[in-house]
Amino acid sequence: MPGSLPDGEAVPRDGSLPPGTGLGGRGFGVYVHVPFCASRCGYCDFNTYTAAELGGGASREAYPDTVLAELALAARVVTPPRVDTVFVGGGTPTLLDPDDLARILEAIDRTWGLAGDAEVTTEANPESVTPASLQRLRKSGFTRVSLGMQSIAPGVLQVLERRHTAGRAPAAALEAREAGFDHVNLDLIYGTPGESADDFAASLAAAVGAGVDHVSAYSLIVEDGTRLAARMRRGDLPYPDDDIAADRYLAADAALSAAGLTWYEVSNWAAGPAARCRHNLLYWTGGDWWGLGPGAHSHIGGADHGLSGGVRWWNVKHPSTYAARLAAGESPGYAREVLSADDRHVEDVMLRLRLASGLPLSVLDDHGRAAAARAAAGGLLQIREGHALLTLRGRLLADAVVRDLLP
Ligand SMILES: C[S@@+](CC[C@H](N)C(=O)[O-])C[C@H]1O[C@@H](n2cnc3c(N)ncnc32)[C@H](O)[C@@H]1O
Ligand code: SF4
Repeated sequence: MPGSLPDGEAVPRDGSLPPGTGLGGRGFGVYVHVPFCASRCGYCDFNTYTAAELGGGASREAYPDTVLAELALAARVVTPPRVDTVFVGGGTPTLLDPDDLARILEAIDRTWGLAGDAEVTTEANPESVTPASLQRLRKSGFTRVSLGMQSIAPGVLQVLERRHTAGRAPAAALEAREAGFDHVNLDLIYGTPGESADDFAASLAAAVGAGVDHVSAYSLIVEDGTRLAARMRRGDLPYPDDDIAADRYLAADAALSAAGLTWYEVSNWAAGPAARCRHNLLYWTGGDWWGLGPGAHSHIGGADHGLSGGVRWWNVKHPSTYAARLAAGESPGYAREVLSADDRHVEDVMLRLRLASGLPLSVLDDHGRAAAARAAAGGLLQIREGHALLTLRGRLLADAVVRDLLP
């Protein structure tokens, strides 16, 4: 959840949902935000804090109990049939003791019940896990680890201000597999200033060589207010180049496909359906989820209901404000937005077109279907079995294709 929080209508103090809001029935996920990092990477504007940035506010030690207080409040608001996916993200979740992560997971299970085949992911920084901590996480019910690798090239890691050595991420991925994790993801970033085509090819080879079943590859985004943006503004570093980013994307798709990882979302590749991240798929297909933690977003309802597109809300951003709200017995919700059917439609088109499964043409209006036909004639989309599917060239221009399909 990068950037600042949008405004919206106030969330009631007891956290209750707008009258008539029901679960959408397309699966229920829980996101747990852990807002701590050992140091801030120069490019990152996620809602995360180093010990120095946090000052005397919420502590890491007190944090698990604060999350459990929000969970108790959530249990009074929604009663899902079961939890299908849990995703602990950050920040750096693995800065918390594995026993604390286990305690949060146990509480989610006690509160709502984890499905027998639930997918339970934690993000992790390569330098913040050990074989022992990974084994502990696996034993406590985590099924998937997502490691921030970013690059194998020391010079690129330095520009990104990453703390780990070049080989640490693939090594951690191997340790995760040895600890019994069948599902391991490595995150890569491409297009960092100074990164050569060979650097990125080596990153892809190292990720594949680590035997992971999932890779996410993102183009470097220069976020306002980061140290990276300041260095570029001063002229110390060049801005990323769109043509280079497109070349890197094509290199990623070629290398990952050759290794048996196929794309299922524009920036995500997996070794078959069982390796896809079900939690992210739930976000992308209009599922329900409760986001626990400062700045976390939630979404309930709307999937199959006529007029309403459900409700989305987001928590106060700072860990101290978040803890203070819960200590006072109040919802940490900062604001919410009731989605109209039109809002939902825009989201559906944006998210589902990015999936390899494509967008059903029936979702589009006449304008959208005509735009889809033009995009197909231009080689950006393929129309198959009533669905619009991005071609490889379309994936490079996905945002522009989406804009054309919308009213
Ligand atoms: C919030 S991080 C959490 C993972 C973990 N803290 C780590 O960095 O290893 C999730 C992923 O978002 C991606 N990310 C964060 N900021 C980005 C940016 N400005 N541009 C592209 N990708 C970014 C990185 O690939 C990172 O691994
Ligand atoms: S470790 Fe991850 S979350 Fe923390 S600052 Fe770096 S990219 Fe952001």
